[in-house]
Amino acid sequence: MAYPHHFDHAAVQTCWQRLQEHAEQISPQTILSFFAADAQRFEHFSMEAAGLFLDYSKAKAQAQTLTLLAQLADAAGLRDLITATFAGEVINHTEGRAVLHTALRSSEQSPLWVEGVNIRDEIQSTLMQMDAFVQSVHSGQWKGYSDQAITDIVSIGIGGSYLGPRVAVEALRPYWTGHLRCHFVSNIDGSDIAYTLEALNPATTLFIIQSKSFKTQETLTNAETAKAWYLENGGKADQVARHFVAVSSNVELARRFGIAAENIFPMWDWVGGRYSLWSAIGLPIALQVGMPGFRALLKGADAMDQHFKTAPFEKNMPAILGLLGIWYQNFLGAGSCVVLPYDQTLENLAAHLQQVDMESNGKQVDRQGHSLTVDSGAIVWGGAGTNGQHAYHQLLHQGTRWAPADFILPLRSHRERGRHHAMLASNCLAQSQALMCGKTLEQATTELLKAGLSQDAAEQLAPHKVIPGNRPSHMLLMEQLTPETLGALIALYEHKVMVQGAIWNLNSYDQWGVELGKQLCDSILPVLENPEADLSGLDPSTAGLVQKFRAR
Ligand code: F6P
Repeated sequence: MAYPHHFDHAAVQTCWQRLQEHAEQISPQTILSFFAADAQRFEHFSMEAAGLFLDYSKAKAQAQTLTLLAQLADAAGLRDLITATFAGEVINHTEGRAVLHTALRSSEQSPLWVEGVNIRDEIQSTLMQMDAFVQSVHSGQWKGYSDQAITDIVSIGIGGSYLGPRVAVEALRPYWTGHLRCHFVSNIDGSDIAYTLEALNPATTLFIIQSKSFKTQETLTNAETAKAWYLENGGKADQVARHFVAVSSNVELARRFGIAAENIFPMWDWVGGRYSLWSAIGLPIALQVGMPGFRALLKGADAMDQHFKTAPFEKNMPAILGLLGIWYQNFLGAGSCVVLPYDQTLENLAAHLQQVDMESNGKQVDRQGHSLTVDSGAIVWGGAGTNGQHAYHQLLHQGTRWAPADFILPLRSHRERGRHHAMLASNCLAQSQALMCGKTLEQATTELLKAGLSQDAAEQLAPHKVIPGNRPSHMLLMEQLTPETLGALIALYEHKVMVQGAIWNLNSYDQWGVELGKQLCDSILPVLENPEADLSGLDPSTAGLVQKFRAR
């Protein structure tokens, strides 16, 4: 059933105006002053959920801010959207699909019907299929063409068929089991697959072709190249099935590629690509950390789902992050938001969250197809701390543009050694504190005078050392980065995206914007490859560039 949206335009407009007035009132105030006004601010502006602790006391927000934002969420029909989404209603209305990646990790047993099928059965049978496959590969029962066990897995996929599995495999390094090593090939750039394969042995390498559509140019080309590499380096043609499995919703195309029917793991239309690491697309994770570890990842995400479904918005972690993001962007003028995990194994987390967020909410029309009148979609970026401090934190501290920052810090490292973790943590806390407190001209001048500069020299240099501060950040703590807390963390951001999509009243689950580039590529490729092809149909720039490529 198509989702009967409950977006109350008039009520949203009223809330929007109240928030605009509130923004004018709060803007001149400092975050530090909020602490002076409420000695319990840290307690009042922090919460636990699903193994995560969120400190949002350094947010540029007061209790009134969150009250107004919760009213906005109510007016936008967020609660109904959440209920309808988890119930399998057609939320992705432009593609006529339900949005049920949450069902992949749900512990609920009650039937969940999608187009007459109880998907709980398919989900469970696929988990069993994954389990058997992982056992078979780990035990050495699954053998290659030379009857040797598999040592290397190459996951070929792009976008949601790559970014999620990759960040999970990297983040769960402490949980890697056995001898298997997992590699990822995503880009059509031939160097990606070339450098990956040059160190591998076809006799002990197993390829997973990860593609929901089984039509993605990069993935199919890389898959063909992998098959050619296998055959050119000793692989037996009649044993291809031992070295290639596929995860796809397009069984027919996977079979046509040469994948044995029993080696195709299903995907479904009610799982969006960027939300699919919880499905069999997560096979690389299961192979690398074992099926129990993969199930623990699902469990952690499910815990966040249960919290998201039940907690009131003022004490709902995804809602708080999502609504604060709306507040910073649509009312305080933030141009982007930055994710700063102080954990080297999460260095590619921002890359995954970019797709989850920007491919979901990078839209310009609302659910009815009307142009949006406010900015939607957040520009998400970031990287691991402390490295970012030596790269882009200068802009975060002194740039004319500011970005609300989400710091992520496991309290315990899997590799404790000496003072390393205390130093990592102190850097993380210091960055958050510096963003809030800054350094005034007076402080900078006094510092310089104390350092022995003359009054003139100090007055010359001090303006360059002023840090405006008053820049909001949030701190997400977890006891340790485990499959459970990683699952909860990624689910948190998936739900943050849903919250924001609801406020902007847009469809977060289609991605029509990527089609044009693919179409244009299909028309440029033959012209680029055929030196005799006519260029008259191309714009002058593209024609000129094609000629440059032809002349290389
Ligand atoms: O970028 C477009 C997109 O469809 C993503 O949404 C998806 O994750 C990626 O391409 C790969 O798609 P597929 O899994 O069908 O190969």
